[in-house]
Amino acid sequence: MNNCKAIQISDNIYWTGAVDWSMRNFHGYDTSRGTSYNAYLILDDKITLIDTAKITYADELLARISSVVEPAQIDVIVSSHVEPDHSGALREVAALAPNAQIITTNPNGLKGLTARYGKLNYRPVKAGDAISIGKRTLKFVPTPMLHWPDSMVTYCPEEKILFSNDAFGQHLATSMRFDDENNLDTVLHEAKKYYANILMPFGKQAQTALNALDGLDIRMIATGHGVIWRKHITKILNFYKRWSAGEVAERAVVVFDSMWHSTEILAQTITEAFAKRGIPAAYYDIKANLMSDIVTDVFTSKYLAVGSPTINNQMMPTIAAFLCYLKGLRPVNHKAFAFGSYGWGGQSIGYVEDELKAAGCEIILDKIRVANVPTAAQLDDITSKILALDL
Ligand code: FEO
Repeated sequence: MNNCKAIQISDNIYWTGAVDWSMRNFHGYDTSRGTSYNAYLILDDKITLIDTAKITYADELLARISSVVEPAQIDVIVSSHVEPDHSGALREVAALAPNAQIITTNPNGLKGLTARYGKLNYRPVKAGDAISIGKRTLKFVPTPMLHWPDSMVTYCPEEKILFSNDAFGQHLATSMRFDDENNLDTVLHEAKKYYANILMPFGKQAQTALNALDGLDIRMIATGHGVIWRKHITKILNFYKRWSAGEVAERAVVVFDSMWHSTEILAQTITEAFAKRGIPAAYYDIKANLMSDIVTDVFTSKYLAVGSPTINNQMMPTIAAFLCYLKGLRPVNHKAFAFGSYGWGGQSIGYVEDELKAAGCEIILDKIRVANVPTAAQLDDITSKILALDL
């Protein structure tokens, strides 16, 4: 018997979600600090549930709801997003509240939910639609491709609460539900990591959503993951403006794999050359770091150097995976180059450069190729070339 209780976040509004302390991989995103699946219960004339949870947390969700009301009393379920970390327990909740209307976007939410959960009591909505649930109104703001076609946020003007689902969220497991109850640097880092790993390809859509939210009086952003923003709302909104605009800093990221230290020596030389120019550089041996952390740093760093030795006429599979991941995230405003060592052949470095181009990076230095072991003169030459770059 699950004995979890709802947590009140405002008058007659409760957090009824679940904390997934042990989640470490969210389809490829390394969630080092776990996550939460946030759902919210509003007690009004129409009892309303905003989102559900991953199916494995259905019992926890229902226990928290039941600590406040019988699930059968739910009149409205707002499904902000079809992805199963939010909609996974929809069928279980709907089975207990068969008369509840399920609000979803039209047509994408409707299509997605029907495909996953079959015919339920859906009420499709579009931009500008609103419903009264008694003393409160819920206004629906579709945010297509932020980050699925069906995504939507909900604004309650009487409460000045924005139920934002994935937007502004963080993969962060914590017992404290609000931003000001947690270490702010940690929360902001996880918010940036979330944006970099999930929302980076959708900067334009994020800006459209931010414009749609502009002017709303917001005292709380109740996210779908991590903590609820109540003290640092302006800060997170401003970060989203900067991130969605593709703002990058004078910072370099050097990512590499190495077999017998030659590419590693090149990486160290490149890192130190950037530093010599006064550009802070981060050094990531891909074997010792998680891709999700690396792309979080790449996201806001203007310069990127990627290195791989040649193995079986290819780049190292670790670097291929990193570049594949990066390409899908469609980074903007990055200047890059490739480097690497080889015994014979040396095809890897050209392939790395091709992938950097395909990821949208501007190539600022001809690929650095070194046979066998770099000599002191070759390393000095690399340093000189980086110092001479017209950045
Ligand atoms: Fe948190 Fe896109 O699901």
